[in-house]
Amino acid sequence: MPQRALSDTKESAKLGNVAQATSTQPRTLSIDIGGSGCKALVLDAEGQPITERVRIKTPDTPTPAVVLEVLGRLAEKSGEFERVSCGFPGVVIDGVILTAVNLHPDWVGVNLAQELENLTGKPARVANDADIQGMAVVEGKGVEMVLTLGTGMGSALFTDGRLVPNLELGHHPFRKNKTYEDCLGEAAMKEKGLKWWRKRLLEAIDLLAAIFNYRVLYIGGGNAKKIEMELPKNVKIVPNVAGLLGGIYLWKH
Ligand code: BGC
Repeated sequence: MPQRALSDTKESAKLGNVAQATSTQPRTLSIDIGGSGCKALVLDAEGQPITERVRIKTPDTPTPAVVLEVLGRLAEKSGEFERVSCGFPGVVIDGVILTAVNLHPDWVGVNLAQELENLTGKPARVANDADIQGMAVVEGKGVEMVLTLGTGMGSALFTDGRLVPNLELGHHPFRKNKTYEDCLGEAAMKEKGLKWWRKRLLEAIDLLAAIFNYRVLYIGGGNAKKIEMELPKNVKIVPNVAGLLGGIYLWKH
């Protein structure tokens, strides 16, 4: 797993600007597999987006075969690229999927990096989705933590920009025999309502602050926009596109 490298292009890439035709190679097709949508865009050699983001709904029964078919369509829609990065919602080691709680059990054991190479004919690297999101947003200083709120709850931890891969805090006990993901995932938000969900989120933030003593906590993912309440000063909301922009860092080592 790469050490974070900060670049001057990071700030403008963060804004989601699409670079002009002067973009450099190698271009990276950056993919984010999510519980509700699969997204992709192409980054130039500096990590600047050079295509608009494309999104295809994640199939209702997201087995490897049907998701790979979706990824093939995303690749086709995205134009040309020389290599592939992919964020996956589960534990990933050396390109191989070890868990896929919110997708389908058939993913366990799949060498997704190899599958993407077969699919696109280009070298591919895969990592946990929250880890990739974090790579795009951390500053590389002290302890920085990332949570992603979507179908599941992703988590990532960095010390001086160095990632602790596959943290999986979401499945750790949080309250009343429920995990963080049981309380802060999409299903709980829908079932219990926003007021309840926001209260649990503030409790989780307090708890995590006391455990990890992070300098900054970043919160991303599709449901981060539902927060709308005051947060501690060292907690920052980050745009969900970071899950795609972070793909460049899989190639920085
Ligand atoms: C998975 C994590 C993932 C998170 C967000 C969780 O259920 O276990 O690996 O990062 O969802 O997608």
